[in-house]
Amino acid sequence: MRGYVSVLFEFILIQVSLVQVSLCNFLDVFRKREIVKMLDQCNVGINCNPDEIKRIGSGFNGSVYTLNDNFVLKVGEEDNDTFYDSINTLKQVPGVAKIQNVVDYDGKRYEIMERCVCTLKDRINRGFYSNNPRRLSNHFLQIVKIISDLHKKRIAHLDLKPSNIMFDKNNNVKIIDFGSMLLCNDGKSSAQRGTFRNYSFDVANGLVKGTGYDPFKYDIWCLGLVLYKMVFIDEMEGFGRYSLNNLTNLVASLGNKKRYLGKILKVRGVFNAEYDKNIRGMSTSELKNLLTSMLAKYDKNRPSLDEIIKTLQRIEKNQC
Ligand SMILES: Nc1ncnc2c1ncn2[C@@H]1O[C@H](COP(=O)(O)OP(=O)(O)O)[C@@H](O)[C@H]1O
Ligand SMILES: [Mg+2]
Repeated sequence: MRGYVSVLFEFILIQVSLVQVSLCNFLDVFRKREIVKMLDQCNVGINCNPDEIKRIGSGFNGSVYTLNDNFVLKVGEEDNDTFYDSINTLKQVPGVAKIQNVVDYDGKRYEIMERCVCTLKDRINRGFYSNNPRRLSNHFLQIVKIISDLHKKRIAHLDLKPSNIMFDKNNNVKIIDFGSMLLCNDGKSSAQRGTFRNYSFDVANGLVKGTGYDPFKYDIWCLGLVLYKMVFIDEMEGFGRYSLNNLTNLVASLGNKKRYLGKILKVRGVFNAEYDKNIRGMSTSELKNLLTSMLAKYDKNRPSLDEIIKTLQRIEKNQC
């Protein structure tokens, strides 16, 4: 009897995935048609053979398609007005994937940008930084310098993670995905953006209590997570052991304030313990201290980007 049940269960699973695949293909055909129509009607100045349009990425906020060898197109909802206001500022930062054009058409936002080659996530998962501390500190330094340029222009990214960091044809770091960004002056924000499972203690706490959080310090925390992943080849984004579903529910209930505070504190507690154990085992003390300080539980204990840059430059110098 058990055998029949598991065969039936497997059969249902196969059918469900077949339906998912064909639904995805159907949506893709539909989307490609929309893209061709948009390119036809809006003067975006890009030559593109419709047969070359291929989906290469999809995430929470939209899908990304190749247009030709040099450009990709991100299709998403028109939901972050800060993004529109900041396009010119973003264009001034060389480490941001170059935005060629942004068009709002038929209820969708089409962002045409420079085509990059691979994500930091791909490289981490391929072991690109294992046994290569020089490469690791050099690439991480590049990333931190770009974020420092953005912060000087008062832009906080708010969703820094390996899948939002790419490399171009010349192996330069390029930051992508500004769907969560904030253009802000000093002060706290209550924006509930980015990847919930990456939230630092101060962000979760500030959202639950309604006191807000420092967006720039949050970027530094996220950079700490990026460095952690580069060092420990952590394939998971965020907490790893916690299912996305639980965390999404948890954060979705933030409106319900204090009831969930205990749960968030507990989640952070376990998270810190696991990370601390790995970091404690590191042999190079400068990188170890840097990671520990960037992942400090409280905002005020994290170093500034200038301090991080100086430390990384010292680490690079010592490696020569
Ligand atoms: N400029 C680009 N060049 C090449 N691939 C890209 C580019 N931008 C995005 N991608 C691919 O698409 C994925 C999702 O893009 P992203 O902008 O992060 O969307 P989302 O907001 O859905 O996370 C990226 O992780 C990457 O694999
Ligand atoms: Mg992304």
